[in-house]
Amino acid sequence: MNHPFDLQIDLLLNDPRVVQAKKLIMETVNEKQKYITGIRPPDPARKENYEKVLARFTEYRSLPLWYPYIGSGIGNGALVELLDGSVKYDFISGIGVHFFGHSHPILSEANIDAALSDIVMQGHLQQNGDCVQLSELMISASQLPHCFLTTSGAMALENGLKLVFQKRFPANRIFAFEHCFCGRTLALAQITDKASFRDGLPATLLVDYIPFFDPLHPKESTQKALEAIKTQLARYPKAYAAMVLELVQGEGGFNVGTTEFFRAIMELLRENQVAILVDEVQSFGRTPQLFAFQHFGLEKYVDICTIGKLSQVCATFFTEEFKPKLGLLSQTFISSTSSIRCSIAILKMLMNSDLYGPQGKNNRFQILFANQLSEIASRNPGYLSGPFGIGAMIAFTPFNGNASVTTKIAHALFEEGLICFIAGNNPTRIRMLPPVPILTENDVIKACSLIEIVLHKSKDLCIS
Ligand SMILES: Cc1ncc(COP(=O)(O)O)c(C=O)c1O
Repeated sequence: MNHPFDLQIDLLLNDPRVVQAKKLIMETVNEKQKYITGIRPPDPARKENYEKVLARFTEYRSLPLWYPYIGSGIGNGALVELLDGSVKYDFISGIGVHFFGHSHPILSEANIDAALSDIVMQGHLQQNGDCVQLSELMISASQLPHCFLTTSGAMALENGLKLVFQKRFPANRIFAFEHCFCGRTLALAQITDKASFRDGLPATLLVDYIPFFDPLHPKESTQKALEAIKTQLARYPKAYAAMVLELVQGEGGFNVGTTEFFRAIMELLRENQVAILVDEVQSFGRTPQLFAFQHFGLEKYVDICTIGKLSQVCATFFTEEFKPKLGLLSQTFISSTSSIRCSIAILKMLMNSDLYGPQGKNNRFQILFANQLSEIASRNPGYLSGPFGIGAMIAFTPFNGNASVTTKIAHALFEEGLICFIAGNNPTRIRMLPPVPILTENDVIKACSLIEIVLHKSKDLCIS
């Protein structure tokens, strides 16, 4: 159709000066990135200042940083430059956020376009066309009919919980798995199964915990979970609004369930009108299908699903049945225009990628990591067990999984040039959320050789 006039934004983005300027910027970024070719120790001349910056930042926050990490703002794929001049392999990617690594050209371009947009933050009163485009992509990826965008994983879960409580009123209880992580708001700190995260906080929600799948005892653990749900349902009839399910437990240590386990639980929940809220804030994009619920074949059970982290903009998906009444959901900020633009680019890349399916890169790289880690274990008996996880979520237990030893190993890996993190308790594991789309086999081999070096150096500390 012919339009009587052009939109100024189209003219702006396609203006030859803008096109040329973008090209020049991208060429310059690329030129600088090329010097980031491998891990590098800190620059001694920057050490003193870096330590002062870290100390000031700690003072402002009144809490120390988990790692002495302050990024410089540039990287190259899995490699990231820090303000102390060091370059490290980033295999945790902000706990699962930077799936496409550092300074990815498509995301840098999306950021430039966002910078030309009229507003920094978009919110529920004023959204640009890119929010519609993002919602459409999300709905087509999830095959769930509704999607509500938001700023954080925690907000996506808060919104999901509001939907189920409103629909199931006056039910006021929640089921969750033992060892789950759900977020840190006042409500979510009650669901997250970690006492220290709710120490001193008021009890805002009534939560009952169900044991998770145990791969060593599949039938027994399934039976135990079902019995626990039945017992609670008998104890508090009609009181349960929903169960929150992390299909792959992230913070819990990369524990993975099975289709049979989840189906048995979901059937029971369905029979008792307990809504099924699948929390994919950490697993989205990383399993052998885009969504973990798709990987486990649970599409017909999901009432609500939340995503976050690598999607940049977080979302709550829901079925027709859980549509909110007017007034229940709103917020000043959905996200920044930059996050929204990058989220669109990320969803397009994911949906057109070679990451998924049995031969997909997520699966292939899980196998590659598994082989490398097994080789370390066979060369060095007692050093590690595992791996655990699925797809682009990989963990191993160093030595006997003692929490303070694993934490020391994570810090030693950081010093050596590999950024990982910890997960789980008793055992505590080393966890990786690597940027699989841009990772090469060589990156994995190099990272695993650093792991072997660090385990070797740590063995006296750990074998007792
Ligand atoms: C499974 C899961 N749910 C919810 C959250 C909370 O997300 P956010 O930290 O973005 O609020 C997280 C964060 O780690 C998570 O892993």
